[in-house]
Amino acid sequence: MRISNQEMLAPSDIPYNLVPPHRTKVVEYTTPTTRDQRKNLIKEANWSACNLPSEYIFVNMCTDSGTSAMSDRQWSAMWLADESYFYSKSWYPLNDALQTYTGMKYTIPSHQGRSGEAILYELFVKEGDIVPSNCHFTTTRAHCYYNGAIPEDITCKEYFDDNDQSWFKGNIDTEALKKLFIEQGDKIGLVELVVPNNLCAGQPVSMKNIREVREIIDKYKKRDVIFSLDIARISENAWIIKKFEEGYGYKSSLEIVNEMCSYADVVHMSAKKAGLVNMGGFVALNDQTVYQKLQPKLIRIDGFTTYGGLSGRDMEALAVGILEGVNDYYLEDRQRQCDIFANACKSRGVSVFDPACTLGVWILADKCLPHIPKAQGPGTALAVQAYIEGGVGLTSMDSLHRGREDKDDPTNTAKIQLAPYELIRCAIPRRAYNDDHFEWVAESLAKAMSWGEMIPGYRRMDIDRPAIEARDIGLRAFFDEYEPMHEHP
Ligand code: F0G
Repeated sequence: MRISNQEMLAPSDIPYNLVPPHRTKVVEYTTPTTRDQRKNLIKEANWSACNLPSEYIFVNMCTDSGTSAMSDRQWSAMWLADESYFYSKSWYPLNDALQTYTGMKYTIPSHQGRSGEAILYELFVKEGDIVPSNCHFTTTRAHCYYNGAIPEDITCKEYFDDNDQSWFKGNIDTEALKKLFIEQGDKIGLVELVVPNNLCAGQPVSMKNIREVREIIDKYKKRDVIFSLDIARISENAWIIKKFEEGYGYKSSLEIVNEMCSYADVVHMSAKKAGLVNMGGFVALNDQTVYQKLQPKLIRIDGFTTYGGLSGRDMEALAVGILEGVNDYYLEDRQRQCDIFANACKSRGVSVFDPACTLGVWILADKCLPHIPKAQGPGTALAVQAYIEGGVGLTSMDSLHRGREDKDDPTNTAKIQLAPYELIRCAIPRRAYNDDHFEWVAESLAKAMSWGEMIPGYRRMDIDRPAIEARDIGLRAFFDEYEPMHEHP
């Protein structure tokens, strides 16, 4: 590891808002395809790029999870890994890095985000509870149902306003949270804040909002309450705070991450995102008793407490990646790519959710294909057509695919709940693509849009499979299938 974390952040007059701070040493070839081929492939894959064999996706923006390019520093650290079961040599650098990153005392590795969540929700969420959040990610939502609790999304009002150009539209609605505590505080044992808010167009959360949640919990709680942060992409949220929240311009993103974590009781991370690794996660906290209570649960699910389902190699890669991923020069470049892509879309008339932030770009599919009613999947239709045009893999998060339940009857799978926006997520894998790739994705979307009313709406198919258990209902969207009402052009 020739260049240290400190050297990577040395003062520089090179404009990393214009050029990346890294260069390419290994390249990955892609499988050439033709339009006719892609039209057949997407049909065979039940009309979703997420079901395609990935070799047939040229630019894969289905997810930013586990899809980062690792650095030479990470690969070299992996050769030094120790695969001992107990107290592996590789555990110590990971523990150090996670403590530096979160500022917290105890760290618990987990094989990915959701296994860390599982032990937290098992410990803190009780049958009949309400679990408020700015918007649960699919897996914490699923853990709520699994433990007999109700996930309660109270996203701030700004998110629902199309014309609102402000940052931090991922915040929780603090007035609504206060009201919930006053009226039903006896049912609240955990509050979850997702930073940034993946399922709300990746919108960031402000430091002020995090601080306010802490204050509300302390003032209004009616029983012990855990303030939990879902920090899968916290470094990128920190960058937006640095740039756009007053008083943070002179702090490093790492200092900002530390401050964000300092308001929480516990943080859990899918390190597959901002951790710049292909696999890994962790939980971190300061309370020794809680740490001790979580230990046996981890051993049951993920293995001994010094590896949590990770090989020594994974731990070494994460120990390096987590700090590379919070480097200010790197984050500046990531935002640059995001802006390039958002502007490439806008200049071609493809509507995007504003503001685009560091996680990726969200397309407003109903604005691109206004002839398709919300309940007929404009996002699904546009994503399929964009794959046909350019081999690009995008994830539909429209009313058909957003995976929400009827609030009054979560098991009512027949009802299609309308989403506030008909979104397509174009998640940006880290360090993996060039600027030209983003121009290509924007071009593919524009070509798709140009077919206009020839693009079909979608309807749900009757699938022959056993009914999903009520406690797994949050995951229903993974098993629903849809078909176009007529052929795609
Ligand atoms: N929290 C957030 C905010 C996430 O986005 C994810 C995963 C998880 C938790 C769960 O982590 O996959 O490591 O178990 N998000 C991926 C995505 C799957 O595509 O957004 P995991």
